[in-house]
Order: sequence, then C-alpha cells, then structure tokens
Amino acid sequence: MVAVAILAAGRGTRMKSNLPKVLHRLGKSSLVERVLDSCQLLNPSRRLVIVGYEAQQVKDSLQKDSFLEFVEQKQQLGTGHAIQQLLPHLEGFQGDLLVLNGDVPLLRPETLENLLKTHQTHQNAATLLTAYLPQPKGYGRVFCDGNNLITQIVEDRDCNAAQKQNNRVNGGIYCFNWSKLAPVLPKLSANNDQQEYYLTDVVKYLVPVMAVDVEDYLEISGINDRKQLAMANGILQNRVKDYWMKQGVTLVDPDSITIDDTVELQPDVIIEPQTHLRGKTIIGQGSRIGPGSLIENSQLGENATVLYSVITDSQVASGCHIGPYTHLRGQAQVGESCRIGNFVEIKKSVIGQNTNVAHLSYLGDATLGDKVNVGAGTITANYDGVNKHPTIIGNGTKTGANSVFVAPVTLGEDVTVAAGSVVTNNVPDKALVIARERQRIIEDWKS
Ligand code: UD1
Ligand code: MG
Repeated sequence: MVAVAILAAGRGTRMKSNLPKVLHRLGKSSLVERVLDSCQLLNPSRRLVIVGYEAQQVKDSLQKDSFLEFVEQKQQLGTGHAIQQLLPHLEGFQGDLLVLNGDVPLLRPETLENLLKTHQTHQNAATLLTAYLPQPKGYGRVFCDGNNLITQIVEDRDCNAAQKQNNRVNGGIYCFNWSKLAPVLPKLSANNDQQEYYLTDVVKYLVPVMAVDVEDYLEISGINDRKQLAMANGILQNRVKDYWMKQGVTLVDPDSITIDDTVELQPDVIIEPQTHLRGKTIIGQGSRIGPGSLIENSQLGENATVLYSVITDSQVASGCHIGPYTHLRGQAQVGESCRIGNFVEIKKSVIGQNTNVAHLSYLGDATLGDKVNVGAGTITANYDGVNKHPTIIGNGTKTGANSVFVAPVTLGEDVTVAAGSVVTNNVPDKALVIARERQRIIEDWKS
C-alpha cells in the first residue's frame, strides 16, 4: 500500500510573489498539479497535500480532484515539521509513504515507479531520488558509503567549503517505510542555519537509507525562484518539442515556438516561427501554422494554413486558409475549404463550406451557408446594447463591400447585396437587395 504526501505549505519566499509558490504555472498546470500528475502510475491508496501559506487558495485550485486529503501546517517550520503534521492522519497506516516536494514539477511517472520498486525490493527504511548536478547550488548534498547507502544530507547553506564540492544532490523525492519513519519524526530538531525542522535529518535515525540516481537529472529541477521557473519551462518545452519532432512534425526554429503538453499534432504538420499552441489544441495532418500565430483550445483539420492569426476556442475544418491577421474566437466554426482573410474577426459563428470572408469583416452570432462570398468590410451589427442577435446568410449569397447586417436578420440563398447596404429586414432567396440612398449628382454646384 502506498500513500503520497505532497509538501505544498511553503510561501516560496525566493519567488518574491504573493501567489503561493506551488500555484505558479508551468504551461497549463500549476506546479502542484504537475506533481500530482507525476504519481499517476502508482495508484496510491491515499493522497495528502500539506498546505499552509494561503492554504485556502491552494485547496481551491485543487478542488476538482475530490480524492485529495488536505493537511494543514499552520506555521511553516520546515519540511520535517510539515511531515510531522501527517502523524495523526496516518496513524496505523501500514505501507510506504512517497513524499514529493510541491516545487519539483518535472518528474516522469516512470521515475517514481522505479524509485518505489527499488525501495520495496531492498526493503529500505527510506529511498531517496538523487542526481549529480553540474550546478548543485541551492540543493541539499547527499553523502553515501560505497553501497549507495546515505550517511548524511547537508543543506547547501549548512555546507562547509569541502561539502559544497559534492554535486550529488537530494531531489526532494522520498520513499519511506511509514512504520519506521513515524517514530523518528518527533526527534527532529531545528539546529541549523534556517532554524527549521529538516525532513532530510531523518536519515540520521533510519537504516538503510538508499540513494537512487535519476537517469535524466533535469527531472529533479526544483523551483525556488523565477529564474528556475523559466528554466523548468524551457526543459518542459524541449521535452514536448522533441516528442513531436519524433512523431513527424516539423518545427521551423523550435526556440521561437511554444507548445503546451496538452496539444496534439498529427504527422506532417509544419509549425513556423513565433507560433504558440496552447491548451486542448489539435492540428490535423499536413497543416501549416504560422509564422506568428497563437492557437488555443482549438481544433484544426487537415491541410489547413494559418498565417499571423489568433484562434481561440474554435474549430477550423480541413483545407481552410486562415489569415493573415484573422481572429477566430468564442466557438467560431469554419467549414471545409474556406478562406478567412486579412483583418477578419469571427465570433460564435458557424460558417459553411467553401465560403470566403476575405477582407476586413466582423461576423458575430452569425450562421453562413456554403459558397457564401462575404465582401470586403461586411459587418454584422449583432449587439443592440443589451442583447446579441443572430444573422443568417444562406448558401451562395454574395454580400457587397461595406454592407452591414442589423441583427436579427435572415438572408436567403443566392441573394446579392449591393455594396454599402445597411440591411435591416429579411431578404428572400435569389433577390437583389439595395439598402442605401441612390446617388444624386447636382451639376454646376457652388458653395
Ligand atoms: C529541499 C530539501 C533539499 C533538496 C531540495 C530539492 C529540505 C530541508 N531540503 O530544499 O535537500 O535538495 O528541496 O528541491 O527538505 N514546505 C512545506 N512546509 C514548510 C517548508 C516547506 O510544506 O514548512 C514545502 C514547500 O512548499 C516546497 C517544499 O516543501 O514545496 C520544499 O521546500 P523548499 O523551501 O523549497 O526547500 P528547498 O530549500 O528547495
Ligand atoms: Mg525547493
């Protein structure tokens, strides 16, 4: 049986932030959400989150996960003190306790699985994830005998000059035999530079305590300040991009592209520079996105192109050409093979197939059929100051340049709208509508 406890009570002073450190974001998820995700393979029987600084805010952010137990650490007197708070909650628990630092968000689930396996195979009292870091500054240093059994852990700030030379560090990830850990927790003292109760001091009282080196040391990157947050973001981005390149996606200038780990890309997608893909976005095979585009929570079909455009919460079917400078938002649904062009905004509208909205238009709350041609500068006046109203435009209709549809209004199929019309009444199929003043010429006119 395995219980998981996540240390998430600290303020994170070095972040210089009012937001609790573990709520800072890496891509779509907060640090603590990522830590929780990393133990998904272990099937823990209990998951406890130790909260303290801005406890309510941390709890609220994790509300959707109803199987979590929250343990309050009212004063943050160190990581050892935090684990002491578990004593009443885990009374009588027979099994292993996996302790995860809430600020170590890049662990792979397989790494934790291996750690637990090693811990159980060797029947250790404790097993710690360790690594040799090229730059170990800030991390606790781990000292072992020849058999990888830990003799001592010294925090960076408590190290003497010789100890600082050791670059084997504590990853902040621990497996404990709970029945062995529980009786030694009360023995911790705060006799160190920070006057804190260090969890790492329990190694003095437990045998055997084994170090397990992680294969990819980047996994144990801890976040204590904004610079480390930015570095972790870089590590995560490299992981995501390497993955998609292996799956047959071309990234032109990967350094200028960002891709959330929630995005899905199909083979032969090409992502051009300065393009950002976020949230639950899916891009279909052969599509070319960018340069200079942002796509968030949107799904694109195959062989579409998007150039210098922003698409959020929308769907674009196969074969569409979007941009340059298009903004699709709020459930815009664009059918197959449409051309949505220069300086066009479409909000909460359904567009049929082979329809063109090529220049300078706003369509809001509109439904357009197939093969509609929307002339340059066509606008739906969908808002009367209080409510939004629909505009419906049938198949094959052509709207003239600079026409305005004052919603609610319906145009039938194959309608032709004269340029400059302000259409306020419904128009039947196949009609020509001219809704503007006739041009007058007054000859020989002087002011
Ligand atoms: C800790 C380890 C260090 C290790 C490093 C890895 C200790 C004493 N040191 O140092 O050996 O190399 O992590 O990243 O454990 N927290 C609480 N309550 C507290 C204090 C902290 O819940 O009273 C939480 C924090 O919110 C954070 C985690 O514990 O998520 C670690 O605390 P932090 O202050 O970042 O420890 P480090 O100095 O990084
Ligand atoms: Mg830390």
